[in-house]
Amino acid sequence: MQADHPDAGDLTARATIELDHHGADYRDRWQEISDGNVARCPVAHTAAYGGTWVVSGYEPVVEALRDHGVFSSYQDHTDPDAPMRGTSNPPIPALNVPQELDPPLHTVYRRLLNGPLSPEQSRRQEPFIRQVTAACLDRFTEQGRADLVADLTNPVPAIVTLGILGMPLADWAKYAGPIHLLTYSPPGSPTWDEAMAAVGEMMAALGALVVARRAEPTGDLVSVLATARGDDGELLPLDHVIATAGLVVAGGVDTTTALVSHALHWLYRNPAERDRLIADPNLLPTAVDEFLRVLAPVQFMSRTATRDVELGGQRIAAGERVMLAFAAANRDPAAFDCPSEMRLDRSPNRHVAFGSGVHRCVGAHLAKVEAVVMLDEILRRIPDYVIDEDAALRYPSIGAINGYIGMPATFTPTPAVGAAFPASGAA
Ligand code: HEM
Repeated sequence: MQADHPDAGDLTARATIELDHHGADYRDRWQEISDGNVARCPVAHTAAYGGTWVVSGYEPVVEALRDHGVFSSYQDHTDPDAPMRGTSNPPIPALNVPQELDPPLHTVYRRLLNGPLSPEQSRRQEPFIRQVTAACLDRFTEQGRADLVADLTNPVPAIVTLGILGMPLADWAKYAGPIHLLTYSPPGSPTWDEAMAAVGEMMAALGALVVARRAEPTGDLVSVLATARGDDGELLPLDHVIATAGLVVAGGVDTTTALVSHALHWLYRNPAERDRLIADPNLLPTAVDEFLRVLAPVQFMSRTATRDVELGGQRIAAGERVMLAFAAANRDPAAFDCPSEMRLDRSPNRHVAFGSGVHRCVGAHLAKVEAVVMLDEILRRIPDYVIDEDAALRYPSIGAINGYIGMPATFTPTPAVGAAFPASGAA
């Protein structure tokens, strides 16, 4: 990576960097690259992917996230050449609600999710999450080996999310598979077409469910979305409702999988800290926030500038794309003491792993309960797990999500506890 940073205060010359956030070099050295950008170029332009600003400093990232009027999330689907290209880079040409809407329309869909995913409702899901985790563990603890991603960190969030939406739990793989594939297949990659076809089929199934629940609501989240009305009293447009349910599935699945998989790997590499968490599980809530900060499951989200604006000493023109680097911002020494150190009891911890402002992750509370419960169950039942690092497979591209495809592990076999898979989601 090269950087060219003009004198501070010179708004006529742009700071430029070379950054391919989907490339293997970024995947392998993202901490080092992020630290370099924070130190030298907290706001800089790269020519990659048609050109975008990359914002790495904590302060400018938060400033942009909170100014949704200037840094818009909107994607214009009516004109592929329009500058408004949403939150992915490169853009994903699919309706993404509420993430790629700006207020006031964003608010209409967001408020439907706030209640069901509130801190209180998320805490109420704990017994359901624990039962799902225990049932997944029961499938392999007696064998002394498992793929921690395929057998645990992938199915648990998928089953929990489907349960909250009111969808058949047995269908989890039909949804988690395509989302997994799409997440690590950037547009133009060899598996992109396969991923888009699989997601298309998934969205068709979700669409059929929304239509069925609109006709006969059952009180679950899909029914709430399907029967919601706008300020004009009319039912909300079907395509937007289906996209909202689709984003809950997509948001709920791969992100939490990535977080817990990386946390398990980090604890494997740091056995004294693993022992500390085993001895004191009360540390898990602060540890999970620190895993979110340091391991950064979601690394980037983009915006489009709606007018000329200055950010971090750089002049951004109307219509330019702006990529917000959450992973880098979480490593900014101006915001965090010794940022590259993992401190499991760090508090306060104002990380931006969930973003900030009106689009801050609506599933943040649920994700944290899921991560705490999963880690708690794993550390109690297979505390001595050993990861086969040669066989563990990370996503080929970080792009947006820093995930694992598979993570084989061995451990001392322990008896199953007889946990049954729940028949349906928690109310
Ligand atoms: C570790 C887990 C998770 C991480 C790191 C994460 C990260 C994020 C981030 C960074 C955003 C902001 C996007 C932006 O500013 O453009 C976001 C939005 C969102 N997330 Fe999450 N997420 C996680 C889990 C979840 C879960 C469990 C759900 C649902 C069950 C979910 C659903 C959503 C939705 C619907 C949005 C869009 C919110 C809006 O635009 O108002 N996420 N997430």
